[in-house]
Amino acid sequence: MKELVKAKQIIKNNWRDGFTIPTSKLYPFQWMWDSGFVALGTSTYDIRMSLSEIKKMFSGQWKNGMLPHILFHSENEKTYFPNFDFWNSQVNFGAPVSPKSSGITQPAVFGFILRDILKTHWSNPDVKDFIKSIYPKLINYHRFLYDYRDPNKEGLFFIYHPWESGRDNSPLWDESMDRIVIKPGSIPAYQRRDTSIANEDERPTQDKYDRYVYLLELGKKYKYDGKEIAEESPFLIQDSMMNAILIKSNDCLIEMADDLNLDAKQVVEWQGLSKSNYDKKLWNEELGIYVGYDLRAEKQVMHKEIGGLVPLFAQIPDTARANKLNAYLKDLSERGFYLCPSFDVDSPHFDSKRYWRGPVWPQMNWMIYQGLILYGFQKTADILKADFNTLVHKLGFFEYFESQKSKVEQLNKGYGGNNFSWTASSYIHLNQGE
Ligand code: GLC
Repeated sequence: MKELVKAKQIIKNNWRDGFTIPTSKLYPFQWMWDSGFVALGTSTYDIRMSLSEIKKMFSGQWKNGMLPHILFHSENEKTYFPNFDFWNSQVNFGAPVSPKSSGITQPAVFGFILRDILKTHWSNPDVKDFIKSIYPKLINYHRFLYDYRDPNKEGLFFIYHPWESGRDNSPLWDESMDRIVIKPGSIPAYQRRDTSIANEDERPTQDKYDRYVYLLELGKKYKYDGKEIAEESPFLIQDSMMNAILIKSNDCLIEMADDLNLDAKQVVEWQGLSKSNYDKKLWNEELGIYVGYDLRAEKQVMHKEIGGLVPLFAQIPDTARANKLNAYLKDLSERGFYLCPSFDVDSPHFDSKRYWRGPVWPQMNWMIYQGLILYGFQKTADILKADFNTLVHKLGFFEYFESQKSKVEQLNKGYGGNNFSWTASSYIHLNQGE
């Protein structure tokens, strides 16, 4: 298949010194959850690349266990904002001097990624040794989320910056972000870089960007330590997707402990509380989907969006709830959308082109696909995979894609960055063996 060859070539071109960048120019460093998805793809044809990618990510782990959302392996690259000097993560005593990093995290994907790798490479002793050596670091990362980000000990951790959620510009965050008032002098002067590389109408607005910088500064003020941030941040959310991914990765840590004779006692404890509170606190009957919880406003975040489907992947919903999620996807498909739009197509905030406000994202499709299979929703899973393949074949290996079928007909390329690593790796993993 010529696309598979192309996909591998993209990853090869994005390969730097032992890891991949998501795409050149727009994202020239190592991003945390991108890295995980790339390792998943490369594990199907070059296990050394895959393990090297993960090892490189963990080389940036902080003493408190945090895995930063960006590792700036190269300090000479000046084209990105906010760069390592703006983050100044050294304010936290446990941040490594090298590689330099950002001060926030991203979805906890490595548990389920390593589980997948272990399954496919069960007979490879190097893989087993690697997983055994990285396992305590993974537990430390999960411990960080429970220790620093869960002040009420609910088993549900918070994020204090939309960039942690992986769904940076989703309308989900609008209400909390609007609470932030930017007065003259309340944030330092800065120069955006993204809009000189990608189209402005595909990127967040300036208003939004100021607030991103505000929250970054807040983190810095408290040395990126969650406890004090929790007291002051206007943005404090127990996100549906972030917590579902943690739960999935917890399950995978427990399974790997069984397989490799490791100790997962602590994870079993965390998991009991997380699973039951997730299902209680984050289900919204009216919307028929899981939602986030705004700890500042003390209420659920009332939007239907893609993160609310990820609990399928973590096997959180019972059959009745899972059926509702499946019905939602089937309906979207019948109404002329490629699966899966990142935001509620009936909301006034829906925008099928703009960053996280409606387009389709490759790695999201990968997770939801797995979730649908786990529940036996084979037909919807097949549609979702076929949709993703159609988008890639017609529009290329872009960062994300138009979700309205009628609009796709008029297009010949996707949105955001081109030759994108996780688009290539999700494609490889979903189509392996074909
Ligand atoms: C954007 C996405 C984020 C991703 C990063 C690199 O910031 O919102 O999820 O990790 O790009 O691809």
